[in-house]
Amino acid sequence: MAPRSGSATGTRPPRAVRQAIGPHLLVRNDCLRELRRMEADSVDVVVTSPPYNIGLGYRTYRDRMSETQYLDWMMAVARELHRVMRPDGSFFLNIAGSSAQPWLPFELAVRLREIFHLQNHISWIKSISVHDDTYGHFKPVNSARYLHRNHEHLFHLTRSGTVELSRLDIGVPYKDKSNIARRGHEQDRRCRGDTWFIPYETVRDKAQKFNHPGTFPVQLPRMCIRLHGRPDALVLDPFMGTGTTLVAAQAEGARGVGIELDAAYVKVARERLKLAMEQDKPPV
Ligand SMILES: C[S@@+](CC[C@H](N)C(=O)[O-])C[C@H]1O[C@@H](n2cnc3c(N)ncnc32)[C@H](O)[C@@H]1O
Repeated sequence: MAPRSGSATGTRPPRAVRQAIGPHLLVRNDCLRELRRMEADSVDVVVTSPPYNIGLGYRTYRDRMSETQYLDWMMAVARELHRVMRPDGSFFLNIAGSSAQPWLPFELAVRLREIFHLQNHISWIKSISVHDDTYGHFKPVNSARYLHRNHEHLFHLTRSGTVELSRLDIGVPYKDKSNIARRGHEQDRRCRGDTWFIPYETVRDKAQKFNHPGTFPVQLPRMCIRLHGRPDALVLDPFMGTGTTLVAAQAEGARGVGIELDAAYVKVARERLKLAMEQDKPPV
């Protein structure tokens, strides 16, 4: 059965609630319904991680559709995102498959080709072993067939494929300093490339992850916003969850709009954002 208009779950969507917190806007609503109300060409950066359709245990949202239904829904959201993005905007889409559904992120990327350019494909590395040392955290896969899943995709999609980025704003120092003078660089900084090692913070229990099964670390949206590199950017997350993207927008001096279906997650986002704003205030 196709999802009823404006709802991925087929259930009646809740009444929209909008709340401004400083320069940011938090919305409890179905993202398709909310996006349709938004002005065209208004958003600088979209950073989002939608449900992956792999059966994660969200509080209310059911993360299991048929593959066709899921891809059609994602495309409907993506079309709205294309409309609300500025022509020079960036859309960072974080997604991963599972051992049972390994093709899904790629199927989605191929469908997205109808409307977006894939300007960069970044790998978000959550855990890595270098020689005999291991850094970061991962969920072990208990199987003789499959490897632990240590990375996720971060598709950087744009309307034109020609969006200029502030690569050095997330750059790294040269290892070999002689490259700076030899290659005529102005500073000791080079492009970091498309593999980003961003580990999760160590947590002791689910409460420290806000009782949400699928958050990303604040550093991930922060790097996306900085890479896009527009001052006072309007940053949108249509699947806001616990508000990580809005906390990142606050930290980067940007304005955030977050949309989330589940009222309990909106409440967490509101509290996290208020705390981040409090911590940002200069001491009196
Ligand atoms: C992968 S999580 C995002 C987590 C977020 N990045 C964070 O760090 O907290 C996806 C979120 O989308 C929400 N969601 C599912 N369907 C939605 C819809 N139609 N509109 C808005 N939010 C939706 C789920 O409740 C879930 O919190």
